[in-house]
Amino acid sequence: MPDKRTTPLIQSLPAAVPFVGPETMERRRGAPFAARLGANESVFGPSPRAIAAMQAASAEIWKYPDSTSYELRHALAEQNGVTPDHIVVGEGIDGLLGYLVRLMVAPGDAVVTSDGAYPTFNYHVTGYGGTLHKVPYTDDHEDPAALMARAAEVGAKLVYLANPDNPMGTWHDGAAITAALDTLPDGALLVLDEAYVEFAPAPAPIGADDPRVIRMRTFSKAHGLAGARVGYAIGPVPLIAEFEKIRNHFGMNRAAQAGALAAIRDTAWLAQVQAQVATARDEIARIALENGLTSVPSATNFVSIDCGGDGDFARTVLEGLARRDIFVRMPFAAPQNRCIRVSCGTPDDLALFAAALPGALADAEAEGLADARA
Ligand SMILES: Cc1ncc(COP(=O)(O)O)c(C=O)c1O
Repeated sequence: MPDKRTTPLIQSLPAAVPFVGPETMERRRGAPFAARLGANESVFGPSPRAIAAMQAASAEIWKYPDSTSYELRHALAEQNGVTPDHIVVGEGIDGLLGYLVRLMVAPGDAVVTSDGAYPTFNYHVTGYGGTLHKVPYTDDHEDPAALMARAAEVGAKLVYLANPDNPMGTWHDGAAITAALDTLPDGALLVLDEAYVEFAPAPAPIGADDPRVIRMRTFSKAHGLAGARVGYAIGPVPLIAEFEKIRNHFGMNRAAQAGALAAIRDTAWLAQVQAQVATARDEIARIALENGLTSVPSATNFVSIDCGGDGDFARTVLEGLARRDIFVRMPFAAPQNRCIRVSCGTPDDLALFAAALPGALADAEAEGLADARA
């Protein structure tokens, strides 16, 4: 029975979470997964220097953290050729999306995203009473022109676009993003989620002072620090300053700040992660092909494999993989839900996946035939 003292908005919300975590799934199934390939983490881990920095910081964990993330923000500013005032650091992109929506969206305000795009953004919009408008993917890509057209129609405050995209891993080049930006309606803000930017050919050339855009980046993917919860946004100074009014000032723990700072300085580690991810992407595509399936070309650290059927078929494959101790996820919306989404693993992880996939596909085919007979 829900607590009746919460606001009418909260009472109207479904008790849904955007993602059920793999630990929860392991507890439910009563066994650990052998290969953790569902959350687009970096199985290659963080830089050893980041680990050492976090270990050193843990001895001082009795101190509150630097509430301004001063050193990290300055290092990020230098890396990105902007001033520290163009950057806000927060508890992952997920945390920053929550702050941004709180800053921009009043109950009833329109927000535009793609149907099946990153669901945590939608969760925040709903939680602040915004109204979500969704446009379909085109050829497994988020469709910038369609997003802008819908934003104009509904008078959107925010337009969300992940480039590269999760769950399909597809990518638009900088020219496509800047062309779309030129059609962003007045009064709207483009939220450019670049969680996977380190795996893509190049970021879109947009100045940090451009008032139409805020970009979101993270240490969870290429830097292998998903558990530390560090993200940052780059945007125009007046907008970034607004975060100071509402953010959780002591939300960035000391060890996480130290780890992120060491991680950006270890460019050699990042380069070898990028190389291992590229190898793993090829291997996932090869495994798909070996099973008579196609995969979607990816600019991320995961690959979507087209299972060759509908969403029910792909879900049955996913469940078959879970029975074989392999954790993967899949897109939510049709027709992208014909796919399973496989994170780039180590060679050992991918060997386990390769061994499990034929059986999971055979189970799904047998179940499909049984359904057809019923
Ligand atoms: C598109 C996208 N944005 C944001 C995130 C979450 O980033 P963070 O760990 O920084 O909250 C993810 C994680 O999967 C993602 O795929």
